[in-house]
Amino acid sequence: MQENEISLEVKNIVKTYPGVKALDGVSMAFRKGEVHAIMGENGAGKSTLIKTIAGSVTPDSGEIYVDGKLIPAMNTKLSKELGIAVIYQELMMIPGMTAAENVFLGTQVLENGLVSHKQMRKRAKALFDQLGVNIDPTQQVRYLSVAYQQMIEIARALAKNAKILIMDEPSAMLTEDEVQTMFKIIENLRRQGVTIIYISHRIEEVFQISQRISIMRDGQYITDLDTKSTNKAELIHYMVGRELKETFPPRESHLGDVGFEIKGFTGSGDENISFQVRHGEILGIGGLVGAGRTELTELIYGYRKLESGELFLDGKLVKIREPKDAVRNRIGLIPEDRKGKGLLLSFDLESNIALPSLPAISKLTFINRRKAKQMAEDQRQALRIKTPTMKQLAKNLSGGNQQKVVLAKWLAAECNTLIFDEPTRGIDVGAKQEIYKLIRQLAAEGKCIIMISSDMEELLGVSDRIVVLYEGKLSGELQREQFTQENVLALASGEKVEVAS
Ligand SMILES: Nc1ncnc2c1ncn2[C@@H]1O[C@H](COP(=O)(O)OP(=O)(O)OP(=O)(O)O)[C@@H](O)[C@H]1O
Ligand SMILES: [Mg+2]
Repeated sequence: MQENEISLEVKNIVKTYPGVKALDGVSMAFRKGEVHAIMGENGAGKSTLIKTIAGSVTPDSGEIYVDGKLIPAMNTKLSKELGIAVIYQELMMIPGMTAAENVFLGTQVLENGLVSHKQMRKRAKALFDQLGVNIDPTQQVRYLSVAYQQMIEIARALAKNAKILIMDEPSAMLTEDEVQTMFKIIENLRRQGVTIIYISHRIEEVFQISQRISIMRDGQYITDLDTKSTNKAELIHYMVGRELKETFPPRESHLGDVGFEIKGFTGSGDENISFQVRHGEILGIGGLVGAGRTELTELIYGYRKLESGELFLDGKLVKIREPKDAVRNRIGLIPEDRKGKGLLLSFDLESNIALPSLPAISKLTFINRRKAKQMAEDQRQALRIKTPTMKQLAKNLSGGNQQKVVLAKWLAAECNTLIFDEPTRGIDVGAKQEIYKLIRQLAAEGKCIIMISSDMEELLGVSDRIVVLYEGKLSGELQREQFTQENVLALASGEKVEVAS
């Protein structure tokens, strides 16, 4: 194959934050017509690198070249003019605006010299069609799921005809089908000569879509690999710099009595959903995006209004009208949308982690600071949260490390029921295993665990039993001996699965 021309090059980029060298002399070159993946553990510096390329972060030193030309002071306006489009890890949406308005955020769609909303809706619709997603351009974004919001981000980059498209974990919130749709779009763009920089923690994906892989660790560039001539073990080895076996923790079956039960849960598009979870059991919930899984957790938690249905804890009927009631009843929810519901971004890590445990560590109104500190420190070690200090503000952490803090906060709290909504989204290989171990340990302590996951391996590898939702209804239940990808997918698309009895 002919060597493609270099479209973007960075040389010796250094970026320091108090206590962290986020980028420690990074050099990389990206080619036209190539999908170039960047991989590395949480906090390795991937997002910071692309922010310097996009001009939203100014490096301490180093050079950026676009089409061979040195760009002495990159800024966001300039990077856009140079044809660089970035889809950031954290969604950039204005919830009160429509889908179409969000696609064309900051650009005016004109018709005969006038701003035209009709034209904007039409063009947004065409982009959604091209992406194969059924989004109503006039719908307010606040009512769309994160997966759809992610599609709007992609549509936004498409609308700009980017020459260099940078995607920071674009697939983290998408299901398998949606990822495949996105890959078709990426492949099309690649053929047209677009440079695509693709950041992901999903190894299978990177093998499927990329031609080249750069590895980063602790702010440094480690190596470049030709995708065709490397393998998973080699990748993991370079990323983590230590040996790591890919396994799920063993299941122990010490199932107790039913501790958590919902009967006939109806509301927000979900209809008549009933299931039970025993003490010590991990119930997996599968289904496609839009099947109503997150809505269900929000009904349980009192974020959404329950039209009808009953919730029982250890056989006792419990009324939950708002999240406070859920917390009081020792239910923990680790939400899908960590920025919206999971974290207090302007608070430090210690406060974030200690928050749900305050009743346990406070006497009257005095918070036991020492206990809060110890608690936070224990979680930092267990989950390998990468931060110079626990006084760091949550918003300054890397995406994956923020997710770990959300987990830590509930792991530290004394809950009897824990609901995990996509627990390892955006989390690196090493930390994923730590999280699986922790979830399993919580089950072994007798807690009732509910885990929503779109990651098939995770769903099959961690759950003791799986229920699947389809269009707001329970489409079936799978016991261990029925755990196959085919069965989950069949139920997720509303088909029946034969029960071998
Ligand atoms: N604004 C900031 N202030 C302080 N530290 C920061 C800031 N932004 C990033 N960092 C730190 O820089 C390091 C690199 O972060 P970065 O977001 O680039 O990691 P990443 O490789 O994208 O990780 P992830 O896989 O979790 O998204 C981390 O230790 C992070 O805490
Ligand atoms: Mg990142």
